[in-house]
Parts: sequence; C-alpha cells; structure tokens
Amino acid sequence: MSRFNVVTTVPDFERRVRAAAGGALTGTVQAIPSIPFPTGPEEILSRQTGEPLEVLLLGPGIPVDKAIKLASVFDLMYPEISVILVHETTEKVAVEAMRSGVRDLLSPDSEIDTIRVMLERASLSAASRRRGLALPNEPVRESGRVIAVMSPKGGVGKTTVSTNLAIGLGKLAPMSVVLVDFDVQFGDVASGLQLNPEHTLADAVQGAAANDSMVLKAYLTVHPAGIYVLAAPLNPVESENITGEQVGHVLGQLAAEFSYVVVDSSPGLGEHVLATLEHSSDVVWVCGMDVPSIKGLRAGLGVLHEIGLVPPGRHVVLNFADRFSGLRVQDVEETIGVPVDVVVPRSRNVPLSTNRGVPLLQDNVKDGAAKGIRKLVARFDPKVLAKPQTKIHRRVEIS
Ligand SMILES: Nc1ncnc2c1ncn2[C@@H]1O[C@H](COP(=O)(O)OP(=O)(O)OP(=O)(O)O)[C@@H](O)[C@H]1O
Ligand SMILES: [Mg+2]
Repeated sequence: MSRFNVVTTVPDFERRVRAAAGGALTGTVQAIPSIPFPTGPEEILSRQTGEPLEVLLLGPGIPVDKAIKLASVFDLMYPEISVILVHETTEKVAVEAMRSGVRDLLSPDSEIDTIRVMLERASLSAASRRRGLALPNEPVRESGRVIAVMSPKGGVGKTTVSTNLAIGLGKLAPMSVVLVDFDVQFGDVASGLQLNPEHTLADAVQGAAANDSMVLKAYLTVHPAGIYVLAAPLNPVESENITGEQVGHVLGQLAAEFSYVVVDSSPGLGEHVLATLEHSSDVVWVCGMDVPSIKGLRAGLGVLHEIGLVPPGRHVVLNFADRFSGLRVQDVEETIGVPVDVVVPRSRNVPLSTNRGVPLLQDNVKDGAAKGIRKLVARFDPKVLAKPQTKIHRRVEIS
C-alpha cells in the first residue's frame, strides 16, 4: 500500500489521481488544501495519517514557483519522498524542476493510465531511495541493455518486433523500459501505439534535454502498458539535423535511467543505424522469409563484421515464416551464416494489431506470432537466463 498526497485546486485532477491509485496499484490518496499554500514539509506531513508519505503531487492550479520552492525543501529534508510537479512542460519549467529535486513532470491533462504509471514509477523510486538511505554503500546501478531492432531491408517487421518486445519487457520490468523510434524520418511507433506525443526526438537531442536526463524524461511519452516512448520527429524535415553523435548521446542518457532501451530503426545502415549499433549491447536482426531480405541480411552482417561494429548480443528473428515459402529455416541459416534464434510465423493477427494500434503482447494474443515474440522477450529475462543449461542459440523450426 502506498501513500500519495496531492496539493491541487483542480478537483477533476484529484479525482483522476484517486482513480489511478485504485486497482492494481493499491494506494491511498490524501488531498491537502492548496489555500493557503503549505509553507513547508511539516505542514503537509503533520496532516499525514496512516502510512508514511511516498509520493507528493504538486499542482495543477498552484503557483509553479511556490511548488518548485517546496520541492527543493522536500529534496533537502526528505529525499526519500518523490515529488511530482503537475504543470505544462516547457523547457524552463523542466530545468527549474530538475534543479529543485522534482523527480518527474506530469501534464495536468494526463489520463488516469498515465497518472497510474507515474505513481508506480515514483513509488518504486521512493522505495529504492529509502533502501539507498539505509545502505549508503549500495553499488551504483549498472547501465541498462540497449537493444537495437534492425534490418537492411524495409517492411520486414522491425516496428512490429520492437513495439511488442518493449511491451513484453515492460511486463518483466514495469516503468523501466523505453522504446525509442530512431526511424527519424518516417517513424510510426507513436501512431502505431495510439500515442500523441507532446515532445519528440527533435526536442530530446538539443538544449537542456541533452544535458540533463530529468528534462529528457519529461520529453518521453507514457504508454498505458507501463513503458515509455521517445517518439520520432512529427515532421520529416525536423529530422534532417539530427546527427549520429546526438543519437549515441541520447542512448547513453536513456541507458543510465532505464533497464531496457529498445530501439526501432529505419532500414539500411545509415548514419543513425551505425551510431545506434555503436551504443548497443544487443541487436535483434529481423529477416523476412524471402530471398532479397535474406541476402540483404547476409550483406549487412558481412559489412558490419568488416568494420568491427558487432555488439555483444545477437538475436536473429525470422519473421513472416511460412512453411509454403519454398525455403527452410536451414536454408536461411546457411545463407546468412548465423543461426536463426526465433521464428515468428506469418499471422493475420499481426496486421490486425498494427491497424488497431494494440501490440499482440498487450492484447494477450495467443497465436504463433505472439509465441515467437514471447520467446524473444525471454532471451532478455534475467530469470530465464539464470537457469542452468540455457543455450543462447538453439535450433528452431517453423511451427
Ligand atoms: N509475422 C507477420 N505476419 C503478418 N504480417 C506481419 C508480420 N510481421 C509484420 N507484419 C505486417 O507487415 C507490415 C510491416 O511491418 P513493420 O511496419 O513492422 O515493418 P518494418 O520493418 O518496421 O517496416 P519499415 O522498414 O517500413 O519501417 C505491417 O503491416 C505488419 O502488420
Ligand atoms: Mg518500421
């Protein structure tokens, strides 16, 4: 059971927080009157009944400067309490909030699902800070895995695989997964997940966000399944100035904050793809079950091998697998020169899910394609990997 307090003048926001704290999250919410504005933490904490406070939401409807001042006092005196500022995100507000110790920013219009994800994340981080305070020698957290989903050819299922992989990993590590759309010109992750991002990669690679992860996090979009998304620029023209260096930098920032960074990419081996490879721990190669796609992958793997750009983890997904394609899995393996790790059969549920904007793994679909993608997710599950005799590359067949 978690304890949330909210200081706001907006009854509808308070109602949404109460709804968000119910259900799976099991938290209790206490509303603190915002007039007169509480002068310090004591005023808030003295009204506290029941469990100790974990998450304090400041806003909307209260003066942002007073909220930021109060947040900085909380940060100094009660760093184990997570403060969320509820205000429209501008760069100025994000920078000031970050400096004052605010842990997250939330838009006042956020839906119940988004508020729930934020509350969950804030209580997790409050819990880990409480542990950190009790154990000052706790080791520094390692950086997360950066998983690039790639293919030399287009239309083979990269976006399908990356969105489903991110949703699947989100079940293993709620609020610790970010899906990044590096198909900078024609990215369709946000629309494919029915999201309307307020900010995109174009904002994330420049200004304050590039220097501070708090600002960067404010530019992510929350998906109701409990993952974060960094959307591609809305306008292809905005993507022209994004450099490989910026792509690498943002990946480093995200890996420091999240356990899993899943990257969807554009086809080919362009500047952004190469920069992504340089910063990845793993690559998921997606290959269609057709000769051009298979030959493309062979050529791509060859080039990367020659230039020495081979991240440690390799996972080959054979998508659109079909027993009547005239090819066998072994033929594909012989051509590309490495084993196929996961087979995802052609399934009519996949285009249906793409068109509905609800990934197979979010919808708990049980067909062969979903089964294949779950197998891919398991390759990153620490519990599965810890089991003895887990072979990294096993023989697979089309079911
Ligand atoms: N296993 C499958 N069975 C049936 N349809 C599939 C399968 N995998 C993907 N598709 C469909 O193929 C289309 C292309 O998939 P997707 O957008 O994931 O490919 P992509 O590699 O990201 O393409 P691009 O290179 O253009 O970014 C989508 O309509 C998707 O629903
Ligand atoms: Mg795509």
